[in-house]
Amino acid sequence: MTDMTAAHFHGKAVIVTGGGTGIGRATARTFAEQGARVLVVGRTADRLAETAAEAPGIQQLATDVSAPGAAELIVNTAREAFGRIDVLVNNAAVVRQTPLGDAEREAAEEMLAVNLLAPVHLTQAALPHLSETAGVVINVSTAIGQRGWPFTGGELYAALKAALDTLTRSWAVRFAPSGVRVVGVAPGPIATPIGQHQGLDAEQLEALRTTLIEHVPLRRVGRAEEVAFWIAQLARAEAGYTTGVVLPVDGGALVG
Ligand SMILES: NC(=O)c1ccc[n+]([C@@H]2O[C@H](COP(=O)([O-])OP(=O)(O)OC[C@H]3O[C@@H](n4cnc5c(N)ncnc54)[C@H](OP(=O)(O)O)[C@@H]3O)[C@@H](O)[C@H]2O)c1
Repeated sequence: MTDMTAAHFHGKAVIVTGGGTGIGRATARTFAEQGARVLVVGRTADRLAETAAEAPGIQQLATDVSAPGAAELIVNTAREAFGRIDVLVNNAAVVRQTPLGDAEREAAEEMLAVNLLAPVHLTQAALPHLSETAGVVINVSTAIGQRGWPFTGGELYAALKAALDTLTRSWAVRFAPSGVRVVGVAPGPIATPIGQHQGLDAEQLEALRTTLIEHVPLRRVGRAEEVAFWIAQLARAEAGYTTGVVLPVDGGALVG
């Protein structure tokens, strides 16, 4: 058995929001391949079913993380299925263009609800269970945008990720006495359906990719597995002295 497939998470239970596609799917698969039982959450049952088919031990729950009562439903489902919660990955997010001067209230409020408030409610609901297992919360942020979003329209998306990073640091301190760690992972541009999910066509996607990799010293987009690798590493017991940090997984974008 290689290190990558060793059963680091045997007997552990993991929740991954946005687990039907992209980074969430790769994260669910990575944890499952290392022995965890995983609950993937998203709005689209078909996507979740595809993830569940990729590795044994993955169960699915189709729900909108921003719906009232969703946090409690997700936590109760995981507890009933697994009897415990060891890792919560707050990964689900939407990108809505909201340039100042032309920002629609509905789009802004959807992003606020999904990208920031849902992780707050879900972490709150999971905390008593994470305290029982010396668990880990992993918030998925963004590397591009840490110094301000470089393109028109994504400023609010970046601001909400910055707020999530502040929660990562604050919660790390607050929950440390309970033995719960809180960390973040900040991806650079990663090849996932995130562009399609915000309605970009093939030409726009290619233009965006070209622009984004100009910000990346390694001059390529990353793979979802390259982000999932670090999410899983940070959740391991061996990472037990690491809390309150947001790790860039960005091809050097932050230092470039
Ligand atoms: N790809 C990148 O370049 C990049 C860069 C930096 C940061 N990130 C971050 O990485 C994370 C994953 O993104 P990704 O690239 O993997 O994009 P993605 O494929 O669009 O994944 C987002 C997932 O979230 C789910 N989701 C969206 N709204 C939801 C809701 N209200 N309730 C439940 N699930 C919801 C989506 O599934 P449904 O639509 O089926 O619900 C989808 O599976 C996000 O936090 C994103 O901000 C990505």
